[in-house]
Amino acid sequence: MGSSIFLTIALILSSFSNLSLANAAKVSNLRITNEASSLLKWKSGLDKQSQSFLSSWIGSNPCQDWHGIGCSNITTDGENVVTSIQLSNSSLKGTLGDLDTWSLGNLELLDLSLNSLSGIIPPKIGNLNSVKFLNLSSNQLTGLIPSSIGNLTNLHYLYLDNNILSGSIPFELGHARDLIDLTLSKNMLNGTLPLSFRNFSRIERIEINDNNISGSIPNYFANYTRLERLDLGKNNFSSVIPSELGKRTALVHLKLFMNNLIGSIPKDMNLTKMEELDYIDLSNNKLYGEVSSNWGLCPNLTSLKLSNNNLSGKLSKEIGRATRLGELLLSSNHLVGEIPKSFERLSSLMKLYLDNNKLSGTIPSELGSLSNLEDLNLAKNSFSGMIQERLGECLKLRSLNLSSNRFEGVIPVHISKLDNLEFLDLSENNLFGNPPPQLGGLKALETLNLSHNSLAGYIPTSFIEMLSLTTVDISFNQLEGPLPKMLAFEVAPIEALRNNKQLCGYNTGLDCPMEQGNQDKENIGLKVILIIVLPSLGCMLLVVVMIGIFLYDNKRNPNDAKLMQQEIEANPFTIGKMTYRNIIDALEDFDPKYIVGVGGFGTVYKAELLSEVCAVKKFHESEDNKMYNLKSFEAEIRALTELRHQNIVKLYGFCLHPRHMFLVYEFMVGGSLRMVLCDKERVVDFDWEKRLAVVNGVANALCYMHHNCSQTIIHGDLSSNNVLLDSDWVAHVSDFGTARVLDPDSSNKTTFIGTIGYVPPELAYTMKVSEKCDVYSFGVIIIEVIMGKHPGDFLNSLRDMNGTSLTEILDRRLPSPSNQIEKKLKLLVAVAFSCLQKSPHSRPSMLEVTLGLSA
Ligand SMILES: *[C@@H]1O[C@H](CO)[C@@H](O)[C@H](O)[C@H]1NC(C)=O
Ligand SMILES: *[C@@H]1O[C@H](CO)[C@@H](O)[C@H](O)[C@H]1NC(C)=O
Ligand SMILES: *[C@@H]1O[C@H](CO)[C@@H](O)[C@H](O)[C@H]1NC(C)=O
Ligand SMILES: *[C@@H]1O[C@H](CO)[C@@H](O)[C@H](O)[C@H]1NC(C)=O
Ligand SMILES: *[C@@H]1O[C@H](CO)[C@@H](O)[C@H](O)[C@H]1NC(C)=O
Ligand SMILES: *[C@@H]1O[C@H](CO)[C@@H](O)[C@H](O)[C@H]1NC(C)=O
Ligand SMILES: *[C@@H]1O[C@H](CO)[C@@H](O)[C@H](O)[C@H]1NC(C)=O
Ligand SMILES: *[C@@H]1O[C@H](CO)[C@@H](O)[C@H](O)[C@H]1NC(C)=O
Ligand SMILES: *[C@@H]1O[C@H](CO)[C@@H](O)[C@H](O)[C@H]1NC(C)=O
Ligand SMILES: *[C@@H]1O[C@H](CO)[C@@H](O)[C@H](O)[C@H]1NC(C)=O
Ligand SMILES: *[C@@H]1O[C@H](CO)[C@@H](O)[C@H](O)[C@H]1NC(C)=O
Ligand SMILES: *[C@@H]1O[C@H](CO)[C@@H](O)[C@H](O)[C@H]1NC(C)=O
Repeated sequence: MGSSIFLTIALILSSFSNLSLANAAKVSNLRITNEASSLLKWKSGLDKQSQSFLSSWIGSNPCQDWHGIGCSNITTDGENVVTSIQLSNSSLKGTLGDLDTWSLGNLELLDLSLNSLSGIIPPKIGNLNSVKFLNLSSNQLTGLIPSSIGNLTNLHYLYLDNNILSGSIPFELGHARDLIDLTLSKNMLNGTLPLSFRNFSRIERIEINDNNISGSIPNYFANYTRLERLDLGKNNFSSVIPSELGKRTALVHLKLFMNNLIGSIPKDMNLTKMEELDYIDLSNNKLYGEVSSNWGLCPNLTSLKLSNNNLSGKLSKEIGRATRLGELLLSSNHLVGEIPKSFERLSSLMKLYLDNNKLSGTIPSELGSLSNLEDLNLAKNSFSGMIQERLGECLKLRSLNLSSNRFEGVIPVHISKLDNLEFLDLSENNLFGNPPPQLGGLKALETLNLSHNSLAGYIPTSFIEMLSLTTVDISFNQLEGPLPKMLAFEVAPIEALRNNKQLCGYNTGLDCPMEQGNQDKENIGLKVILIIVLPSLGCMLLVVVMIGIFLYDNKRNPNDAKLMQQEIEANPFTIGKMTYRNIIDALEDFDPKYIVGVGGFGTVYKAELLSEVCAVKKFHESEDNKMYNLKSFEAEIRALTELRHQNIVKLYGFCLHPRHMFLVYEFMVGGSLRMVLCDKERVVDFDWEKRLAVVNGVANALCYMHHNCSQTIIHGDLSSNNVLLDSDWVAHVSDFGTARVLDPDSSNKTTFIGTIGYVPPELAYTMKVSEKCDVYSFGVIIIEVIMGKHPGDFLNSLRDMNGTSLTEILDRRLPSPSNQIEKKLKLLVAVAFSCLQKSPHSRPSMLEVTLGLSA
């Protein structure tokens, strides 16, 4: 449409300018005198500067080179008449004043737009009865739109936008039935749309946005068969959207945002016409219903904005077919379900806002294909799982907001590839582990919010490489050590740093010791670990020889190091035909494509060798956190070499190399308990019997650790992420990075890492770790297995509510249990309640638990 209007205008303009130079042979002196005096009178009312701008306006013949005046000899006797006035953007100041006295009955085009004209639009504008094109936009005109404007029955193009016009739109405007283009935007018009508008049969564009019009969007709008652009945004319309609007019109642009529209979005669209749809903005209304799959049938749709409504239901996968879509904004509705994988086809997408809905599931890896994505907002939903690493492939991302979800795991290093990222908000999730030093690579990052997570350890000094960083928030984590020496941290207020473990420097209120962590370094220094890799004869075994002292407390446990050494020598890296080189090769030097999981301290890869599959846990590399990682590396080796149990994951070997620090375990095909419970398909196979067996398996493992070993070993971070399942659904407890031997002589005051949601309440006020911490976490796992999901906040109410009926919490994805199973489940719930007691002393020991369960 645009083209047709502008073409017509161009034609009008060019004919005028050609003719304007013409000096008519015969001139009606009377007419010229009238026109001239009328124009000169208007000129005299303008300010000095405007008058000097119109200095060419002298004499009695406006057709004789007057600036901005166009003439034509349209009359029968061949005389010249003024047909156009074009004085747009001419700094004119004054009023339209005596316009009403003009004798400009042949004027077809009047363009005084983009000046500083004030005052009212004079009623006698109705005398300009030949006017086809009237542009008074972008002035400071006030008052009402005069009803006489309806006398301009030749009017095709009317632009009064960007003024201060008030009152309602005159009914008489509807008499200008041939209007093609009507723009009244950005005024202070009120009232309703006049019924007379029903007679616009040629209308192609209506823009009345940014006024205060109320009432309904009339049904007859659906009869505007040529209507291509409708913008009624930012008014006070409170009707439904006419159901036929999309059917007969030729809509390309539809903007109805910021009104009080109710009802549903019309679904009844003319599919042929939908192909032309380009821009839809219905945001900030009260529309309900689903996001129609029909939008997928709009191949040319570039913007779909439906934020801030009352939309419900799932995201239709059909939307993935609107491949030109550049903006998909659906914030603040009530959408549920997952992000369809089909969204990967939205290859033009630059903005995706799904924040403030009730969406869940993981971020599909397919979003990594959105190579044009610049702005992704998934905040305030219930997304879970790990942060999708493939987001690191959306290289144009400038803003990434994942806050207030249930993301867990570590911050994927892949994000650090986002060279254009300016805004990163990961706050209010369940992220743990250390902040990866690779984040320092985010050179464009200005705002970083990691607050309200469970991040631990030191803040990498590499953060100082984030040269653009100005705003940080790391509050409510378990970070410690010195703040990076950079402005963003220097200016960070205490609110952005508070509630961490022990940060020092700048506004933390704590000075950093001269050399942070010296004490630790010394300790570690004593523990010399050396691994020599030898190609052995024949079967290329990786022989691991340990020299030196491994354990923390070698004085008290003089045999441990030796024990471990023997253990490993006796069972030296029993991974069959595997060598260090094999593993590195199989993983293509730890290519991210082999990653199967990320834990607090390391990334887990799946290595497939000739006939063996194993899990390789590579500890996070970090200059700053070496000690920290080494501790957990040690803890894990120490625990696992001591522990031999069918429900505890087996350690095959380990490697401490200047470049790589990793452990090799048996691979658990079934993945983690958490993953199974989140997997809609697999969870159906995870029936009640298997679930009972898993709980029993975990109980046995913990009982063994707490009671059957030479010393009590506490896991310290038991969660459904750390319970792995093999191909027969047998549970194997893993991830011993926080495990520790309970020392009966010490207070065991120590860092407790834990996973939010599994940490017992006493650790909020004491650092005293006991085996009862594991018992508590076990209680959470029982409830999680029975409910099919983490109980979340429900846990608190559950704990105080022993009477909870079993059927209320059972995972509804499984059929109801048989009577026999139900009995066992009831017992399990009772055990869970006892494990979840607030006071650690009231909780049973794992020995009691296993005895209870087998009763
Ligand atoms: C003015 O009108 C006459 C008769 O209609 C026509 O012959 C003539 O070319 C016109 N002059 C100009 C400059 O258009
Ligand atoms: C208006 O005129 C000024 C200079 O006279 C120019 O810089 C500006 O681009 C013009 N604006 C429009 C919209 O033509
Ligand atoms: C009317 O004037 C405004 C301001 O100069 C301008 O932006 C707009 O393009 C004009 N309309 C037409 C159709 O020329
Ligand atoms: C419109 O024109 C008619 C005559 O053509 C006149 O009687 C009437 O007053 C005009 N209306 C307005 C509102 O000026
Ligand atoms: C419209 O605004 C005018 C003032 O600009 C006011 O007098 C009138 O009452 C308003 N009408 C409605 C329907 O709000
Ligand atoms: C609209 O047009 C019809 C004729 O088609 C006419 O009878 C009616 O009065 C017009 N309505 C308005 C409001 O101009
Ligand atoms: C819109 O009109 C209503 C009355 O109908 C008035 O209360 C309100 O202040 C107006 N809003 C604006 C932004 O002019
Ligand atoms: C739309 O047009 C049809 C036929 O021209 C007419 O019957 C119908 O009443 C019109 N609808 C509205 C809402 O004006
Ligand atoms: C919108 O219109 C309603 C009446 O329909 C009125 O009560 C309300 O004040 C108006 N709101 C605004 C922002 O003008
Ligand atoms: C849909 O639009 C096409 C093209 O304008 C038209 O030919 C067809 O009749 C319309 N169909 C309906 C059901 O209105
Ligand atoms: C879709 O857009 C392209 C390019 O903007 C245009 O050439 C094509 O005609 C449009 N298709 C339809 C059905 O409007
Ligand atoms: C949202 O829509 C539902 C129906 O889907 C309705 O019950 C509810 O009242 C609506 N809420 C608002 C605020 O309009």
